[in-house]
Amino acid sequence: MFYQNIATELEKRKQEGSLRKLSVPINGIDFYSNDYLGLAQNQELIEKINQICNSQKHKLGSTGSRLLSGNSAYFEELECYLAQIFESESTLIFNSGYMANVGVFSCLPKRGDTILYDELSHACIKDGMRLSFAEKFSFKHNDLNDLEIKLKRAKGQIFIATESVFSMDGDFAPLAEMEKLSEKYNAQFIVDEAHSTGVFGQYGSGLVCHLGLSLKIPIRIHTFGKAIGTHGACVTGPKILTEYLINFSRPFIYTTAMPFHNLVSIKMAFEQLTKEPDLQHKLYENIAFFKNQLQPKLKTIASSSAVQVVLISGNETIKNAGQKIQEQGFIVKPILSPTVKKGSERLRICLHSYNTELEIKELCDILHGL
Ligand SMILES: Cc1ncc(COP(=O)(O)O)c(C=O)c1O
Repeated sequence: MFYQNIATELEKRKQEGSLRKLSVPINGIDFYSNDYLGLAQNQELIEKINQICNSQKHKLGSTGSRLLSGNSAYFEELECYLAQIFESESTLIFNSGYMANVGVFSCLPKRGDTILYDELSHACIKDGMRLSFAEKFSFKHNDLNDLEIKLKRAKGQIFIATESVFSMDGDFAPLAEMEKLSEKYNAQFIVDEAHSTGVFGQYGSGLVCHLGLSLKIPIRIHTFGKAIGTHGACVTGPKILTEYLINFSRPFIYTTAMPFHNLVSIKMAFEQLTKEPDLQHKLYENIAFFKNQLQPKLKTIASSSAVQVVLISGNETIKNAGQKIQEQGFIVKPILSPTVKKGSERLRICLHSYNTELEIKELCDILHGL
């Protein structure tokens, strides 16, 4: 019966054209990975990391959670280094952005509190909130009026959650205006910087720092699996917040700490970025070039980030569009419902510092011909 039930659910997905399947990466021009700055494939960086790991005696794994045997001086030094980059009093490393968001949203808001979150917030923000006993309400995407209406009704300690760069739309949250509202209603404003870390701000510090808002928005989630090219995440904030997370955030407490190699990768990736600010500039040029090439007849979402979108409604139609692009040697992933709302299926085009103008132009020609 159990297997019959799950088979029925899978069959329903198949019928709706939304069955998820794993596929190994294929050869083609990369317009789909989150490696926005090419750090994941930067040979100089990879060699440097290997050199450091080979030259130091270290264990393969961390052998335990941070509170038991998994901590190290390197861990703590890296957290101090990241605090400097992110203009924060302190940082706490989590094993992934998913775990960092779940770790924050499950433990800071309490019963009687209210979380107001952008309706397009990432699944891990939502999953974290589901583990909290606070009340949660979404506000319309980037809609300050709707947010204020909900702020007026909110009870207890209020939390506002958003992403600085939206993962599936690529647009920015109005951070300065939202921060003003959070001050007006005495709310804690928490920003997920997954898709802006590395891409924006000096040394990849993210959009909040880039906008000069680091003191006003201290609690942020920065991830290292996208533009930083490696894996993991950290939560920024005052020392007392870090201390609280160490004590109460279950995804931090009850898991084996990151291995040494991963910590070195994070440190070296940021050092590479400080040495090569041109990577960011090249990406900005490519974003501008792409936007310039795209004809207005395509349905897009206004975005100045590395994530660009062409909307083509319907799961089957969008899958066919992705397939056609792939047949011409370019990899762009179709995003189906239910990952995005039905009717807002899209091609998610990721731009990189290493894409050439010719590649971008050819991709745009294909998009125009769809
Ligand atoms: C906005 C956002 N937050 C968090 C995450 C999760 O980060 P990680 O991949 O490090 O778990 C993602 C990744 O898809 C994301 O897009």
